[in-house]
Amino acid sequence: MPDIIVDLPAAFFPATTPTPYCRADFGPDFHWGVAAAAYQTEGAWNQRGKGPSIWDEFVRRPGRIRRGETAKIAADFYHRWPQDLELLYQMGIPDFRFSVAWSRVMPQGTGAVNAAGMDFYDRLIDGCLECHITPWVTLYHWDLPAALQRRGGWTNPDVVGWFTDYAQRVAARLGDRVQHWMVLNEPMVFVGAGQLLGLHAPGKRSLGGFLASVHHAALAQAEGGRALRAALPATARIGTTFSCSQVTPWRPTLPRDVRATRRADALLNRLFVEPALGLGYPVADLPLLSWLDRYHRPGDEARLPFAFDFLGVQNYTREVVRYSPFVPLAWASLVGAKQRGVPYTQMGWEVYPESLYHMLHQFGAYANVPRLLVTENGAAFPDTVTAAGCIPDAGRRAYLRAAIGQVLRARREGVPVDGYFAWSFTDNFEWAEGYEPRFGLVGVDFATQQRTVKESGRWYQRFLAGEKVEQ
Ligand code: NOJ
Repeated sequence: MPDIIVDLPAAFFPATTPTPYCRADFGPDFHWGVAAAAYQTEGAWNQRGKGPSIWDEFVRRPGRIRRGETAKIAADFYHRWPQDLELLYQMGIPDFRFSVAWSRVMPQGTGAVNAAGMDFYDRLIDGCLECHITPWVTLYHWDLPAALQRRGGWTNPDVVGWFTDYAQRVAARLGDRVQHWMVLNEPMVFVGAGQLLGLHAPGKRSLGGFLASVHHAALAQAEGGRALRAALPATARIGTTFSCSQVTPWRPTLPRDVRATRRADALLNRLFVEPALGLGYPVADLPLLSWLDRYHRPGDEARLPFAFDFLGVQNYTREVVRYSPFVPLAWASLVGAKQRGVPYTQMGWEVYPESLYHMLHQFGAYANVPRLLVTENGAAFPDTVTAAGCIPDAGRRAYLRAAIGQVLRARREGVPVDGYFAWSFTDNFEWAEGYEPRFGLVGVDFATQQRTVKESGRWYQRFLAGEKVEQ
């Protein structure tokens, strides 16, 4: 196949990428996978006893989702999982990360279990194992049962108990076959976008609600880990995931931009990992976090840490930060890629694969850090289908080649990174952005649900089969 990346900007494939490289350079125990999430792929939003989630309700609210799209069907994974697993198998992808929809297994969030919902995940896991695919299960990828939102959702301290009860039940049912678990997906994003910015479900904009939710999610992260540990065999590996972006000052010689960057780092990259590691919230670098004290109950301090077996690093871009007098408390704002005149993706995010290298170093530098895994990384670009039915997504392919190279670069420098999951397996519902941003290694025609392995997916397949990556 001709190499067609040569015309792409250098940002897509930076000179620091350690080429040539191949799968064997990562060692035989490195985990290679693709990732997905229940709400973004399953559809079947109200089938076989599933209760509504906050996202099922949010998408109905006018103006919340681009073009008014919903995930009622999404990639129809609920019905098409056997064929999708077959495709994973054919692509030679050994690890598959997906999430359990809380409201599918517990329609009210607490109390009765919906047998049909639990059976779905049971069969899915058996299907993975039959295809020699290792399942990696995330307990919470943002789809809180709507019934719990009516009781305050993440702002209610009881959410910690609701969540650990759910975790315990899922582990009790699936734990005999699932070895790898993740508690939360990107708490900073679901709390920040959901409770402060109002962009994601449940669409709230309140500083108090945000701070309460931060504390309860940090507690749920650790208590969820403990619930899994208690319910699972000793061989189970328990992790949780974090969004993160390398942050750099807009004007590096300007002290106020440098200080703003430190605050942004505390908020975007450190807020959830540090309490888990026993370091507390990064209050010294972001004084507004001292307000979290209001939501502390006696004994909470000791409940925040948990000895995870691995941390999931999820990275897509970097952020350039400047001081801003218009953003109270944080006093920082982001200078977007468009404004900086650099290449960007369909999400408006700068194409900057080296950010992943820097974040692996940043997370790897904590004194007591366990193993790291890249549990998500990818890029959304518009795709075109050729007359021959191919999707020649050169940009995505170049991005993945570079990003995986940056993982190798970090690993060679001693960062304990043990796995890489591309986001995403298939195109799917990108939250408030709807279906337009395409992250998949496999394209989905949402009118017909036809799957087409993109050139990036073919490349990943060849890479996993041993092909060398050249410059
Ligand atoms: C991280 C989230 O976990 C995932 O749900 C989302 O689709 C990707 N980022 C891309 O925005």
